[in-house]
Amino acid sequence: MRVIKVEETEIASWTRTLLAEQRVVAVQERDERFVFDELRQAEDLRLDHDVTLQPPLRYLLPEKEELVAFDMAGRYQPAESDERPFVLLGLHPYDVAAIRQMDAVFAQGVPDPHYSHRRALATMVACDVETPSSNVFAGTMGTAVVREGYDVLLTRIGRDYLVESRTGKGDGLLALFGDDVQEASPVDLRRREAVWQRNRQGLRQHELDCPPDALPRLLALGYNDELWQERSELCLSCGSCNLVCPTCYCFDVQDVVNLDMKSGKRLRLCDSCMLQDFAKVAGGHQFRLRRDRYRHRFYRKGLYMPERFGFVACVGCGRCIDSCVAGVANPVDVYNALLQRHPEAVEEPLEGESVASLGKALEALLGRSAGEVPTPVVVHPQATAVKPRREEPDPWLAMPRQEPATLERELEQLVAKDPYVPERATIVEKRAVTQHETFYRLRLDSGRSLGHQSGQFVQISLMGIGEAPISVSSGPTDEPDFEMVVRRVGNVTEALERLEPGAKVGVRGPYGTSFPMTELRGKDILVVAGGIGIVPVRSAIQEVLRHRSDYGRLTIAYGMRAPQDRLFGAEIAAWLDEPGVNILETVDHLEGLWHGRVGPVTTLLPNCGIEVGRTAALVCGPPVMYRYVLSDLVAMGMLESDIYVSLERKMKCGIGKCGHCQINGTYVCQDGPVFTYAQVRNLPEALQ
Ligand SMILES: Cc1cc2nc3c(=O)[nH]c(=O)nc-3n(C[C@H](O)[C@H](O)[C@H](O)COP(=O)(O)OP(=O)(O)OC[C@H]3O[C@@H](n4cnc5c(N)ncnc54)[C@H](O)[C@@H]3O)c2cc1C
Ligand code: SF4
Ligand code: SF4
Ligand code: FES
Repeated sequence: MRVIKVEETEIASWTRTLLAEQRVVAVQERDERFVFDELRQAEDLRLDHDVTLQPPLRYLLPEKEELVAFDMAGRYQPAESDERPFVLLGLHPYDVAAIRQMDAVFAQGVPDPHYSHRRALATMVACDVETPSSNVFAGTMGTAVVREGYDVLLTRIGRDYLVESRTGKGDGLLALFGDDVQEASPVDLRRREAVWQRNRQGLRQHELDCPPDALPRLLALGYNDELWQERSELCLSCGSCNLVCPTCYCFDVQDVVNLDMKSGKRLRLCDSCMLQDFAKVAGGHQFRLRRDRYRHRFYRKGLYMPERFGFVACVGCGRCIDSCVAGVANPVDVYNALLQRHPEAVEEPLEGESVASLGKALEALLGRSAGEVPTPVVVHPQATAVKPRREEPDPWLAMPRQEPATLERELEQLVAKDPYVPERATIVEKRAVTQHETFYRLRLDSGRSLGHQSGQFVQISLMGIGEAPISVSSGPTDEPDFEMVVRRVGNVTEALERLEPGAKVGVRGPYGTSFPMTELRGKDILVVAGGIGIVPVRSAIQEVLRHRSDYGRLTIAYGMRAPQDRLFGAEIAAWLDEPGVNILETVDHLEGLWHGRVGPVTTLLPNCGIEVGRTAALVCGPPVMYRYVLSDLVAMGMLESDIYVSLERKMKCGIGKCGHCQINGTYVCQDGPVFTYAQVRNLPEALQ
């Protein structure tokens, strides 16, 4: 680290040199507000801005970007990038803190090469706040001053600036001031300390009445508070609060066909969890109503992100407050109001009873197993102290410090493994199985086997249409073929129906958790399936039958709307011929020819003859089915940890990045779709 002192005029000439060498994106004035934009001339740079309209995150995660290029012959490849190294100039400390958070988010699990590529190309020049904005509260969030996450930091002390280099890249920028520069003296550094102290105390237009690390507790206690209903009634579901937020990163994915009609691109577009259709799924089922969407934004920032990543995902920039015409987006207002109703969140030490109730509330909201001791939530209000919950390497934070050649190589390798690029596959068999559902057998063109486990899903891609998550319906094998059954509900599923054997589709995955078939060896298996829910569990059924002697009795309780909706009829007859297999079926409505039972699937359970102590249940069906089936199984004496459910949510990325599939703080694409009932029993959004 090196700190030099320069005059204000030298910043202008240094910026000119920078501009001659690199692309510079910097803060500039537009119509009496401030924005980050391409800098054309050094004179346009402003370091005295209060806050920018959009966060600098948009230069690392653009509002719209190309993820994948494709052609109509079914070839997919990573989008070509002609981006060059650039300097992001004029970031306030809270935005630096936010970018540190995004680094952790996009590096977690399956790293996102597009974000990481830009992040590695960016040199971050931060500047301490000179003019506080009218709604900034970074002081209260611990992000008014940062000591990490930037390459260069500029701090105005009187008529001069101190310029600190923090990294190798920063040293390069400092060198552009020339050799004849003055090192900062101890007095200069003390004056900088005074600026920091002023900002820590001054950037507090709103004051949180509790330390930020008390927010997870507060939110765990306040989930069912009336406040969410009261405040959400004014919310217009416009999404502005998300779109201006430096820590909101949810996205949508859409295909666009080029004018040549032979090629196209898959785009990623900024999205907002406040918009009405964000979590809406097939059949119009709406997993979050307006109150739930409003609450979700505050929970994401104050509870789910701290639990997953170790930081509160609000850095106090105040942009959401500026942008909300309804006046209900202010996090401090909301958290303080909730605190008034739940003062016990900050009372120390907690009494025995409150500890127990807090433990229960946290367990409920974070989806821990019953009886599992809640691990303390580690929260770092200083967003710079990012601590991922799972210990994982953090390659992107280290990258900018690498030698350019190594960096280039690593980026190439990463792009070659781009998780958004589907593999090409061929439809080798297709047949209608009901009026609305079609069976497909697919083969990966590479000839490799999919390598899936029972219960996992793939993202099926159709060029120019989009992607849809579909369960693999066949059991794991070494063969290159796998099977699925698809119900036509919208764009992708209907376009798939128009394809014939020989046609090409894209496949990503397999993704998600699976039924633990190895652990379940020796047990009896009860499958409870409703409607199309038989599709994912068929994979487990096939596995049990393929290794018949490894498992005990197999009982299948299968309910469907009407006889004509029955899937796998011929196969069900063959399953019955296997030793130790019992199949019970029922229809909701008696239409057409049916000699079996009539009634919901739960009517099959009392007569299914299972020995609860030695049985594991695999349950999959429409949302409405779960509550009844699960409570009946528990009433029969089954342990919640012996019941496995497969849940469905809207999905866009499949790799824990887009935010669409969240159930409270749980990501269905990564933490599911297969969960034990114990894991989701207390998640309010799971089984509604
Ligand atoms: C893990 C998982 C496994 C699935 N397995 C199967 C399967 O084996 N067979 C099958 O037919 N379907 C399955 N689905 C549902 C399937 O993904 C959706 O029906 C499909 O994405 C709809 O896409 P579309 O483009 O045809 O519809 P769209 O045109 O996108 O939308 C039509 C309607 O479907 C909703 N929708 C969009 N995405 C989803 C989604 N992921 N889940 C539910 N509704 C959605 C939309 O909100 C809209 O209401 C699964 C979903 C998940 C999450
Ligand atoms: S809180 Fe405000 S900005 Fe956010 S969606 Fe509602 S009305 Fe729009
Ligand atoms: S929630 Fe509001 S104040 Fe907090 S970081 Fe996002 S936009 Fe800024
Ligand atoms: S986070 Fe994108 S599908 Fe789960």
